[in-house]
Amino acid sequence: MKLIFLGPPGAGKGTQAAGVSAHLGVPHISTGDMFRSAIKNQTPTGIEAKKYLDAGELVPDSVTIAMVKERLSMDDAKNGYLLDGFPRTVDQAIALDAIDAPDAVVDIDVPDERLLSRLTGRRVCGKCQGTFHISKLADEHTCPVCGGEVYQRADDKPETIATRLKAYHDQTEPLIGYYSGLGKLRRVDVASLASVDGDSRPEDVFKAILASLE
Ligand code: AP5
Ligand code: MG
Repeated sequence: MKLIFLGPPGAGKGTQAAGVSAHLGVPHISTGDMFRSAIKNQTPTGIEAKKYLDAGELVPDSVTIAMVKERLSMDDAKNGYLLDGFPRTVDQAIALDAIDAPDAVVDIDVPDERLLSRLTGRRVCGKCQGTFHISKLADEHTCPVCGGEVYQRADDKPETIATRLKAYHDQTEPLIGYYSGLGKLRRVDVASLASVDGDSRPEDVFKAILASLE
């Protein structure tokens, strides 16, 4: 299956992608993770992308599309993919349709007011790349899965989050109409799954994603 996760920053795309990609037997391809790795390794793409990630703005389409095209040509993507964070503009979606069109697009819909605390409280493990919320960590520096050290993403500062949310609404949200028009959109309304504390359990979101694909 060829699947896209659409949704605002902090919607839980990365959290859900690990389990869903394993369930479907397709690689999880996150353009954000690819850019962060390129920045760490100081590749030409990383050097170009860094200023945009630091500012919370989208990397230019030409750079992003070339990177994804190369990734999708690799052997492990021959039988499908789970794209997380791509496409993010209508031009990227049109380019993907020409490269290897998706079968379905899951829009993980979380209201803006829940996103800020999710993102400012997010911690990522430097060793296993697991994503956690600080409120769920017994030790705020240590990964509960592998014992690695957890860190805060550089773009999870409130001022950068505001720019990322604006980029989402201005440039990415139009993709909901684009894929709806193609009959490929599946919506997972996370607010409707909320428990007493107002948020939803990741395992309930996982079940809702699989149900949306049936
Ligand atoms: P990217 O890395 O893709 O960031 P993003 O889209 O802003 O999304 P996030 O990774 O912040 O959120 P997520 O939905 O994965 O949430 P998560 O699972 O971590 O992109 C970063 C940058 O790269 C962009 O700003 C841009 O510069 C560049 N870029 C990337 N792709 C690009 C493209 N296509 N074109 C141009 N530029 C591009 O969860 C968040 C938090 O919520 C965690 O703390 C988690 O524990 C918690 N959480 C998850 N699920 C739940 C739940 N059900 N209930 C409560 N808490 C939950
Ligand atoms: Mg992510």
